[in-house]
Amino acid sequence: MKKERLSKELLQKAVEAIHQKECVVFPTETVYGLGANALCKDSVLKIFQLKNRPPTNPLIVHVPNIQECLSVASGLTSLEQKLLETFSPGPLSLILPKLSHVPFEVSGGLDTVGVRIPNHPIALEFLNAVKLPICAPSANISGKPSPTTFEMAKFYMEDKVPVILDGGMLDIGIESTVLKVENDQIFILRAGFITSEMIKEQIGISPISNISVEHHSPGTRFAHYKPQAKIILFESSDDLPSPHSNSAILFLSHYINTLNYDYIVPFSSVQEYSHNLYHTFFQCDKKHITHIYCELPQNQHQGVALRDRLMKAAE
Ligand code: TXA
Ligand code: MG
Repeated sequence: MKKERLSKELLQKAVEAIHQKECVVFPTETVYGLGANALCKDSVLKIFQLKNRPPTNPLIVHVPNIQECLSVASGLTSLEQKLLETFSPGPLSLILPKLSHVPFEVSGGLDTVGVRIPNHPIALEFLNAVKLPICAPSANISGKPSPTTFEMAKFYMEDKVPVILDGGMLDIGIESTVLKVENDQIFILRAGFITSEMIKEQIGISPISNISVEHHSPGTRFAHYKPQAKIILFESSDDLPSPHSNSAILFLSHYINTLNYDYIVPFSSVQEYSHNLYHTFFQCDKKHITHIYCELPQNQHQGVALRDRLMKAAE
């Protein structure tokens, strides 16, 4: 269940840890983040070390409001301002020109910085109390599924950080939509809960998503979201192979024959599938499942982001 409240003591402990150059795990509406002071090079380097993250994979900086975006970015165009006003706080990360006091360790050497205002009461309380921009990747070991429950966050980080803020099971379950504006065009660098259709409807501009992602968003190059089990994707029951032993099946359709699976996980919507995806992978590992058969959703609306995560997990 989602948790929205934090004790004063724990909040204080989290704030102190950040000031002592430690990392803190905190909930957002998407996935748990592994946060550190974005203006302190030593703190930032600790994130990379704890996660075993490639240094060229840039971090997203979390701030509590639009005004504070300007503590790390040099300015906002009117289109960027409109995107933030429309979708923040929320699962949107915007790539902006970086101010020079933000260390290049945050941006993976780039002159830009990803900024996001998370929509979780505990995240906002923490950001308002700490009064520093907090860079945070997902709080998993690099390559593994991102944590979406307190249990997963503890599994990855309990022995590595002084504080984990418990937000329960998070609302969205997959990472934010990453956008970049160039010449009044909106580029989707990573698909997420905020869809191309939503941007078109609310902003009046069709975003471009079929760019050379490799060029624009370094992070998408690396292995991601992989449980121990092998992921096998299928578009419909017609191309579903017969299962190995110790198999799980994750699906949306009603007409799947689930007879020979050890762990059967039906979803009634793409949102429910996304919300539960990483935690279900985690459960599969706990059950020593060796093969996970995953139905691909249709490539539209939030199905785009879910397909992206499933395909990366299966690579
Ligand atoms: O929902 C989320 O975004 C979560 C929560 C914790 O906020 N964070 C997250 O961070 O997913 P991470 O590090 O797992 O993914 C960051 C993504 C990567 O794909 C990275 O390449 C991209 O953001 N990114 C960050 N800064 C960038 C920049 N300056 N230019 C291009 N891409 C950038
Ligand atoms: Mg991540």
